Amino acid sequence: MQPSHEKPRKRELDPERNHHCESRRGGTVDLGLPRRLVELTLDDRTVSAPEGSTILDACTALGIEVPTLCWGDTLRPRNACRMCMVEVEGSRTLVPACSRRITDGMVVRTDSERTRHSRKLVLELLGSSADLSTTPEVAGWMAEYGADPGRFGPPAPGEDRDERPPGEHEAPDGSVAATVHQPAKVDNDLYVRDYGKCILCYKCVDACGEQWQNSFAIAVAGRGFDARISTEFAAPLPESACVYCGNCIEVCPTGALSFKTEFDMRAEGTWDESRQQRTTTVCTYCGVGCNVTLHTQDNEIVRVTSPHDSSVGHGNLCIKGRFGWQHVQNREPRP
Ligand code: SF4
Ligand code: SF4
Ligand code: FES
Repeated sequence: MQPSHEKPRKRELDPERNHHCESRRGGTVDLGLPRRLVELTLDDRTVSAPEGSTILDACTALGIEVPTLCWGDTLRPRNACRMCMVEVEGSRTLVPACSRRITDGMVVRTDSERTRHSRKLVLELLGSSADLSTTPEVAGWMAEYGADPGRFGPPAPGEDRDERPPGEHEAPDGSVAATVHQPAKVDNDLYVRDYGKCILCYKCVDACGEQWQNSFAIAVAGRGFDARISTEFAAPLPESACVYCGNCIEVCPTGALSFKTEFDMRAEGTWDESRQQRTTTVCTYCGVGCNVTLHTQDNEIVRVTSPHDSSVGHGNLCIKGRFGWQHVQNREPRP
């Protein structure tokens, strides 16, 4: 089915988005229209789930953990990372749980030898080519699936991938693992693009483009292993179409996109999420009333996110809500 170009105002009205209306991390429940129940077998349990649900929806409702990277609760599935692959009886290949809809009589296995082997390989390929040090949960998955990204050899020497001449990827000589390493792009005061951590999940492109922001400031440039996220002609962000909404940061699963504050504090060794508090409030800049979650450390705002289950913004903000908080902590004495 082709994606609709009309932006849905509510997730449950969009046939291409996941139909369930609950955030995976808990939150609001919008019952929407009643739907027929579909019966299937999930890890030897006979269960029912609303028609139109994905396998991932059904797993989540049952408390079955399926690892995901490119899936986003505010975005249409992209099927890019292949972390969520499960076995479906009668299917020759593994199928992505994040996008495959359930059908009557479907028999699904989420934790078989084949799915575990597939996830191990995905983790090894991603881990050998991208820096996953700030990807939540990935260390636990590596241990659980016995992934060893180091078996492909040490990382190849870094280079600026934007400088590579377009064309075919040079075949590696086998002694080192090809990587997506490149210097972090620090070209503005608000956020940093560290594409050495990019797994090319496309979530930022979708958030920036027709699924939410409609700025189309970023897209995929290059092909094959040279494919990378880029502005037009690799222009610095201030010279691009970017409006600094930060909605790309909100959905990035690896920390490739981050607040400049976070990037600087990580470099200084002062970033410590265990010491951070989160306070959800309402943005005061205009009457739309977006929810903002302020992440504070040592009584300073260090990052701003937005609840994905908010019916106002669905996790999206504009530049004011996302970055316009410096005045709050400007404690210069008045003249
Ligand atoms: S900040 Fe907004 S406009 Fe800029 S690249 Fe990210 S999503 Fe696009
Ligand atoms: S920058 Fe982040 S959101 Fe964008 S493709 Fe890379 S990993 Fe995905
Ligand atoms: S989470 Fe399903 S393919 Fe990435």
